[in-house]
Amino acid sequence: MSDMPTTTVPELAATKHHRVYAIANQKGGVGKTTTTINLATALAAVGKSVLVIDLDPQGNASTGLGFDQSDRTITAYDVLSGSATLRQAIRHSPIPGLDLVTSTVDLLGAEIELIDMERRSYRVRDAVEAADTGHDFILIDCPPALGLLTLNALAAADAVLVPLQCEFFALEGLSQLLRTVDRVKRSFNPDLELTGVVLTMFDKRNNLSEQVAADARGHLGDKVYDTIIPRNVRISEAPSHGKPAVLYDHRCAGSRAYMALAKEFLRRESVPLAA
Ligand SMILES: Nc1ncnc2c1ncn2[C@@H]1O[C@H](COP(=O)(O)OP(=O)(O)OP(=O)(O)O)[C@@H](O)[C@H]1O
Ligand SMILES: [Mg+2]
Repeated sequence: MSDMPTTTVPELAATKHHRVYAIANQKGGVGKTTTTINLATALAAVGKSVLVIDLDPQGNASTGLGFDQSDRTITAYDVLSGSATLRQAIRHSPIPGLDLVTSTVDLLGAEIELIDMERRSYRVRDAVEAADTGHDFILIDCPPALGLLTLNALAAADAVLVPLQCEFFALEGLSQLLRTVDRVKRSFNPDLELTGVVLTMFDKRNNLSEQVAADARGHLGDKVYDTIIPRNVRISEAPSHGKPAVLYDHRCAGSRAYMALAKEFLRRESVPLAA
């Protein structure tokens, strides 16, 4: 079978020092991209080296990190289709320690083209393993669907981080996602973990937010991060300035929450704060 995981060569596994995270939720507009770019920037700010892979044809992570269409020459599409290596696709962002693999709408075509490709579910995993880019963390921003792109991210990941918007129906979508994670674990990537669920766009004036948070904690216990990301207008303004919120206005409540999230993330992943 062409679509099976590669056997891990022990020497290679021993040298692997990055951790790969898929930021996933098939629901649209729940804060995947916002979480990816702000967590990545906050991690870079405390001295970690981070690679963001924009695996969404919408290219919002690329835009949000200030990459215009004209900066997107070698993209995630080229990596998936095999016409470029991951290293060739990496762009340095203006933020020290933060690199990016951009995406364009071409990636929509990859969903279809991948169907006939060898190791179609492992294109990202193979590219990441072959590159050994030297980053501490690789964060993959997934599209709002459970198609081949998200499957590639989950097959490449050590863990999945799920942004959950504090609104009605949030938990319904979550159980579908968790079933998918289980299936991927059984069939493609036995090491995949759920690192956690991050509550986003929490509105303290809205009782529903409290209820979703309580339900999520009731179902998932300590898988739910203590840090809650509030709904904050500065966060929604930041992408149009091509900057993550934590740079656009590092003092707003949303940015402070993302800095706290990065600390909690490092604590949960048992990574020391100081390099
Ligand atoms: N905490 C927040 N407060 C206010 N607005 C937010 C917050 N988080 C995200 N947003 C805004 O909500 C919208 C959706 O967020 P985002 O793009 O991060 O979601 P997404 O899950 O990546 O969406 P998609 O599924 O389309 O990729 C964006 O306009 C973003 O700026
Ligand atoms: Mg997005």
